Amino acid sequence: MGGKLSVRIGDLKLTKSDKELLYSLVDSGMFSEGRYIREFERKWASYVGTKGCVTFNSGTSAMMAGFVALQHSPKYKDRVRKGSKAITTPLTYIATVNSVVTSGLEPVFVDVKDDFNIDEEKIAELLESSSDVGQYSIILPVHLLGYACEMDRINSLAKKYGLIVFEDAAEAHGSTYKGKRVGSLSTLSDFSFYMAHAVCAGELGTLHMNDPELKSLAESLKGNGRMCCCTVDERAKGLCPHAVEESSGIDPRYFSNVIGFNFKATEFQALLGLTQISKIGEIIRQRQENVRYLNDGLAKYSDALKLPEFSETVSYLSYPVVIEDASISRKRFRDALAESGIESRPLFGCIPTQQPAYAFLKSGYQGKVPKADYFGSRGFYIGCHQFMPQEQLDYVIKTFGGIIRQLKK
Ligand SMILES: Cc1ncc(COP(=O)(O)O)c(C=O)c1O
Repeated sequence: MGGKLSVRIGDLKLTKSDKELLYSLVDSGMFSEGRYIREFERKWASYVGTKGCVTFNSGTSAMMAGFVALQHSPKYKDRVRKGSKAITTPLTYIATVNSVVTSGLEPVFVDVKDDFNIDEEKIAELLESSSDVGQYSIILPVHLLGYACEMDRINSLAKKYGLIVFEDAAEAHGSTYKGKRVGSLSTLSDFSFYMAHAVCAGELGTLHMNDPELKSLAESLKGNGRMCCCTVDERAKGLCPHAVEESSGIDPRYFSNVIGFNFKATEFQALLGLTQISKIGEIIRQRQENVRYLNDGLAKYSDALKLPEFSETVSYLSYPVVIEDASISRKRFRDALAESGIESRPLFGCIPTQQPAYAFLKSGYQGKVPKADYFGSRGFYIGCHQFMPQEQLDYVIKTFGGIIRQLKK
């Protein structure tokens, strides 16, 4: 084995035909939402298993629009009032919670389990012990790093207490729960197609639903609440359902029924994503193979490190590790990885106790979410993406061994 390698969290290598497709889009000059956005929505909805899918410029925007759509929907608005509470996990990428708060809802955190996901029994305890269950509106489980949450129990609790379930599946493209793809198991769900995710589009998000009313609200909200959500092609073909308004002098592209955002994506993002959707099976398989290989190579350090559970139902975002040996500092471990050219990221940090933006929640959650505190301070992840060659996997195993020997006291 040679010298220092560069081992990245994620990568995207386009084939010649992928590039040709993108060049043809450049030549067309048609960059705002059009046929590729619609094709992406059709294909991703069909892959996930939902009737509806609406694209957004990011997963965060998709989530925000989802919460606001619930607040406008005649079916859900009485429950999802502004200021109502969303029960979620403290261990997640901060976007989950930012989207709750910026949509006027309040996050309430319960602790996680050993698989990093929200503990469904803690949700049950919270609801059972509450004197006012009506203050809660949503359960927001996050399928962290690709691991599916215990959806049957979560859905049955939601049913019992009249709550809405919104799955944050941003990191779990193609993971399954009891044979069904995550993102298809609740009223709303979102995905992110940011770098390093299995299907990557640079930046892009989707919101999924089966309810047609939530779909039209989401489409409208992402375009500043406009009445007409047609693409240029659809309007040109006379498919716009707002012809009546148009005939009375109202241009439905510039009149709005609700107060919205500009969260629209571009054809570039959709086309980039489409080049990857077609390879999703192979991407998931390759990532699983890499996780299995790293687990085999690092098993000899399992007294010091908690390695990821392997399952063929998981579509891995990355390779998570928790440093269980208290004598090894996470900072020193990650610094040593960086010096060796191996990128790593902290396991998000426990939002209410460790994220500076949520310092106002810290005293209320001190000691209440111990597992999330532990993983948030002792965990990190590295890449396991489909472009990692064998040489990089071996290099990771060897480098981990060297660091453990050097840091273990
Ligand atoms: C769990 C989770 N939720 C939401 C998001 C938000 O997605 P985006 O970065 O596309 O806004 C991400 C992003 O990776 C995420 O990991």
